[in-house]
Amino acid sequence: MNIGIDKMGFYTPHLVLDMTDLAHARGDDPDKYHIGIGQSEMAVVPPTQDVVTMAANAANQIIDESDKQAIDLILFATESGVDNSKSGAVYVQRLLGLTEHTRAIEVKQACYSATAALQLAKDYIAAHPQRKALVLASDVARYGLHTPGEITQGAGAVAMVVSANPQILAISDQSTYLTQDVMDFWRPIYATEARVDGHFSANIYVDFFTNVWTRFKKTYGVDVTDFDAMLFHLPFSKMGLKALRTVLPADETVASRLTDNFESARLWNRHVGNLYTGSLYLSLLSLLANGTLADNAQLGLFSYGSGAEGEFYTATVQPNYRNGFDQVKIESLLNARQQVSVGEYEQLFSDQLPTDGSTKKLDIAADPAHFVLAGIDNEQRQYQAH
Ligand code: HMG
Repeated sequence: MNIGIDKMGFYTPHLVLDMTDLAHARGDDPDKYHIGIGQSEMAVVPPTQDVVTMAANAANQIIDESDKQAIDLILFATESGVDNSKSGAVYVQRLLGLTEHTRAIEVKQACYSATAALQLAKDYIAAHPQRKALVLASDVARYGLHTPGEITQGAGAVAMVVSANPQILAISDQSTYLTQDVMDFWRPIYATEARVDGHFSANIYVDFFTNVWTRFKKTYGVDVTDFDAMLFHLPFSKMGLKALRTVLPADETVASRLTDNFESARLWNRHVGNLYTGSLYLSLLSLLANGTLADNAQLGLFSYGSGAEGEFYTATVQPNYRNGFDQVKIESLLNARQQVSVGEYEQLFSDQLPTDGSTKKLDIAADPAHFVLAGIDNEQRQYQAH
């Protein structure tokens, strides 16, 4: 029985910053951002969006009535959750009208946790083939103004329905993974911005890729030539290219197939930035939407989360994969975004919600999203559809 991703939805806020504008404001050469980092635009988050609203908006794109009844496991992968106790999955269950007879929890391990959630959901469906699981990957990547990490910020959410006989992707049972206690990137509980040892983190990323990939090849007797595309966690799109280059074979046909598919796979990420847990899965969506994949194309996926965990696994693209996501909706979401100036971005970055228990009502009129955060009352976030 095939098990994997049946449907995928994506959401990113309606505000966006042009990386050329940011480069000029920071006194940098725009080529550093566009080529050296591989980012053209960066999502900017209005106060009316957070990881819960973004996840609910992404899931709302794909969930139908039959999903609402069949989903009884909601796994919310995030490292920028809004509550230290309550899971974001519980809010999403209510906002989407999913059955109450569900397990709804949050999972955390930096950018890796969406992959952990996906693999756990797959095992759950193997035991309960009539049911479905909803995996949400939603994050706001924040490093701080004028920091080296600033150009690798972003935000967004990917929602995935996991089921038997999936429309998009059958996930194989083959995978290799690695956990090591490494301090390359972390965020103390009191901080709203990540702490990072930037160049060290990029080296650890490649080390983890090399480790799990080498182990994968040895364990399953495959080579890079067996793949149509290799996908990577993309904290910035050049990072995946650096990892890909370590395995490109001498065979020019295979090398250009892999690099061409990589270009398709980083297209949408270039325009959104890092969405932590969702980055690998936005890249998958970008490949499915913008690439030309052969029937039953074989994909290798590398997931990485600082701290650090990495996993390499494989999956087969299903014949009707284009029915599992709404390309037109995603493209119009990206194209309809409103550009903000560097000044407006800086203001929005600094406009944080109160942390002293005071009440705040937010102006939701300007936010075109279906689900929004309307404010904080009695220390409770007020989510609503509008
Ligand atoms: P930096 O030190 O300012 O940049 O920060 P740089 O000097 O290293 O330059 C970056 C690249 O641009 C270099 O290319 C330059 O040569 C090139 P590379 O050598 O890397 O191939 N460059 C130019 N190219 C063309 N024209 C020019 C030009 N100038 C320079 N004029 C850094 C870069 C990524 C370190 C910083 O942005 C940062 O700290 N980012 C955050 C950390 C990060 O994203 N790490 C990635 C691995 S860890 C990870 O993926 C996990 C994560 O997602 C978190 C999680 O798991 O939760 C982050």
